[in-house]
Amino acid sequence: MIITTILVGLIIILILWRWIQSKPPVFGKVTPESQWSTLINTMIYKLPPIVPTWCRVYAIGVVDTIATVLWRRTVKANTMGHLLKMYGKQQQEPDRLCIITGGDSGIGLEIARGLLQDGLRVVIASRTTEFMQQAKAQLGDKNVEYLIVDLTSFKSIQQFVEQVKTKIPKGGIDILINNAGIMNTPCHITEDGFEAQFQTNCISPFYLSLLLLPWLNKKQGRILFAASSTLYAASPELDVSLAKKHYGWDGLTHYAHSKLFISMLTRYLGHQLRDQVDNEIQVFCYHPGAVRTKLFSHTTVFTLPIFSYLFDFIMLTPSEGAMTPLYLCLASNLPKQGTIGNYWSSTVIQPFPQCEEEDDQNQKNVKKAWKSALDFCGLTIPQAEALIHE
Ligand SMILES: NC(=O)c1ccc[n+]([C@@H]2O[C@H](COP(=O)([O-])OP(=O)(O)OC[C@H]3O[C@@H](n4cnc5c(N)ncnc54)[C@H](OP(=O)(O)O)[C@@H]3O)[C@@H](O)[C@H]2O)c1
Repeated sequence: MIITTILVGLIIILILWRWIQSKPPVFGKVTPESQWSTLINTMIYKLPPIVPTWCRVYAIGVVDTIATVLWRRTVKANTMGHLLKMYGKQQQEPDRLCIITGGDSGIGLEIARGLLQDGLRVVIASRTTEFMQQAKAQLGDKNVEYLIVDLTSFKSIQQFVEQVKTKIPKGGIDILINNAGIMNTPCHITEDGFEAQFQTNCISPFYLSLLLLPWLNKKQGRILFAASSTLYAASPELDVSLAKKHYGWDGLTHYAHSKLFISMLTRYLGHQLRDQVDNEIQVFCYHPGAVRTKLFSHTTVFTLPIFSYLFDFIMLTPSEGAMTPLYLCLASNLPKQGTIGNYWSSTVIQPFPQCEEEDDQNQKNVKKAWKSALDFCGLTIPQAEALIHE
């Protein structure tokens, strides 16, 4: 009798689980997973300043991963196939073109794959020929162009921009995805004098985007910046002085602040573009989720043998991590208020406490961040405005 009851119970659970799995995937809608993540992230943001940033980053990593395990591994399984079925071919214009940095591995490679499947032309900007060749072996040559750029060097960025301008007509870039990034790498000061995480994750993507702005399609252009939920860890506020500071064992604090920095710049850029007449370029930053890639290869806990297997199982795959950026590239019905530099995760707009607009101090901080970033790039405010207006 007991065995029969258990068996019937198991069969009912299995049927229910299969039924939930077979329901259409949710994109662009708030889910319990995203609500829960937001709640915990905001709580971590509000912890007293005595709690160090690296502790908060770990806490956020655990929260994200648990949300992933509970929701995506058991209840809901969104796939790239679902996303392309729902949002693919929504944009009518033929020959759309996307440039993606770091499109040769991890999440970037999957974003590129998704865009190619949807018929876009893609320019993959790689740091090294080695990874470029690997990407070529996977994605082939059709509709893809491969170029080299090193985001730890302004000179390399300037050369990349010149190459792009000779290959693509003005207004020909429909999407620019600033995906490339590094995390917790051994401390390195670049030839331009910046801490490498700050330059790769923030200063260079910002510089590259400003230089390429005149080449973006003014009617339907989109600029995406890879942020991270670790921006909630960088509290109480942004410390730009870290951009030129060495660190010993704690690279995560620099990582979190570099991601907060780029998210604040995204917001300011979004507002600048919104205020332009005849300019409908949309700007976003996003968190892809906790995704198993080589980004974690310098963070010990992820490389220990036992944990490594566990993380392989519970973290998102790069293809799952590509979901939010691909959604932001392809969906045509995005809410207008989410396209002016907002922070997205799990395909929905998320609160961004350091940028809440009703707070005057936040407004001042965002403006200060913008000014610091321009200084770092050697640009004046009029020069930046000229690039935005051109
Ligand atoms: N994975 C996650 O859980 C997670 C979470 C939040 C945010 N993100 C963000 O998502 C983005 C993609 O990360 P991922 O997980 O896909 O990591 P990944 O597999 O390590 O990919 C990072 C890409 O960036 C490129 N890159 C690194 N330094 C560069 C430089 N100086 N110049 C040009 N390209 C450079 C890498 O090139 P090489 O292959 O040559 O090194 C690689 O193609 C990053 O911005 C990351 O911060 C990831």
